Amino acid sequence: MPNRITVLDGDYIGPEIMKAGLQVLAAVTKDSDFEYQITHAPFGGQAIDEVGEPLPQTTVDECKNSDAVLLSAIGGPKWDQCPKRPEQGLLAIRKALNLFANIRPTKISKAMMEYSPLKKISPVDFVIVRELTSGIYFGEPREKNADDAFDTMRYTKNEIKRVTKIAFEMAQGRNHKVTLVDKSNVLATSKFWREIVGEMAKQYPDVEVDYCYVDAAAMKIISNPAQFDVILTENLFGDILSDEAAQITGSLGTIPSMSKGDGQVALYEPIHGSAPDIAGKGIANPFSMINSVAMMLENSFGRKDLAIRIEDAVNQAVAAKVVTPDLGGNYQTQAVTNAVIQNIERVGVACQKQ
Ligand code: NAD
Ligand code: IPM
Ligand code: MN
Repeated sequence: MPNRITVLDGDYIGPEIMKAGLQVLAAVTKDSDFEYQITHAPFGGQAIDEVGEPLPQTTVDECKNSDAVLLSAIGGPKWDQCPKRPEQGLLAIRKALNLFANIRPTKISKAMMEYSPLKKISPVDFVIVRELTSGIYFGEPREKNADDAFDTMRYTKNEIKRVTKIAFEMAQGRNHKVTLVDKSNVLATSKFWREIVGEMAKQYPDVEVDYCYVDAAAMKIISNPAQFDVILTENLFGDILSDEAAQITGSLGTIPSMSKGDGQVALYEPIHGSAPDIAGKGIANPFSMINSVAMMLENSFGRKDLAIRIEDAVNQAVAAKVVTPDLGGNYQTQAVTNAVIQNIERVGVACQKQ
């Protein structure tokens, strides 16, 4: 049976970069034994337009019945005044699929170094493990009144433990270091995180643990990003720090992510939004979506070989300076995608000749 992938095309630049990602998926799997079947489902603003609801139940069911979900960015000014915004659908799908851990890599290869806005830069390779289905995003009560408004930041022990386990296990397969980023000099939830992480660290003697306040972490991501291996943090801090971390690669438009939980289905999406300011111009950077496809092939389907072919092809495009304007180039989305596909095909032909 072919692998089942549910595709949620997204809004504004969403469909533009999803098209690129699917073209690359087709190219890299063409001469391989990887078979897949794609189902597009309505989601986000597109679903509000079609059925009046950002996350229809049929889409949840479709995702649950698939082996992986590919999602492009949603939201934008068209739906900002809707009673239920596309962003609510995004939070709801993460909750419905119980995707409590969100992995957001920051990798600056030698080829990428010159695109970094940092003057002093060496190769960087760390991941942010962001808790995704709790914290202030989901805490109750929340209310907006005439004279006040409030949100609630709440974490249970189990919610912290399950994402911490993922962070430690990732560190064991990497550089054996976890940095917990929190605000434990102020927040009760952060103190709780520190206690639990400190306790769990005893089970992972091969992993070094350190602790960093979120304000200092924001500074260190700029001053010395190479010091990090796995950054573990709660939902809102992870949202903010991952955009900051993305920018040191040169553009927010390069970074993919994986969201997973205990179940079999994981979801892959760029970390950025729908970029309404550049939608329709054909200049969105497709790397975030192409890299999300690679992350999916490796993690949901065990096809590291295909993921590496994609990563190599992207790196070759970067080295040849075939990049979109956000990275200082003047190539269009489709031209960059074509270059990546040509690189994949060239390597494929070279392999067959051997
Ligand atoms: P954004 O991430 O869409 O854009 C921020 C800046 O980065 C913009 O200048 C944009 O042009 C640029 N950018 C982002 N992706 C790019 C790419 N692939 N190529 C080139 N440039 C790129 O953030 P925003 O403008 O604050 O939000 C726009 C909408 O997206 C909002 O409705 C927001 O809620 C939504 N959003 C959705 C997601 C998601 O679906 N996961 C994530 C973040 C924001
Ligand atoms: C992200 C986005 C979302 C988040 C928004 C759109 C709800 O910023 O995926 O990073 O805050 O999680
Ligand atoms: Mn974000």
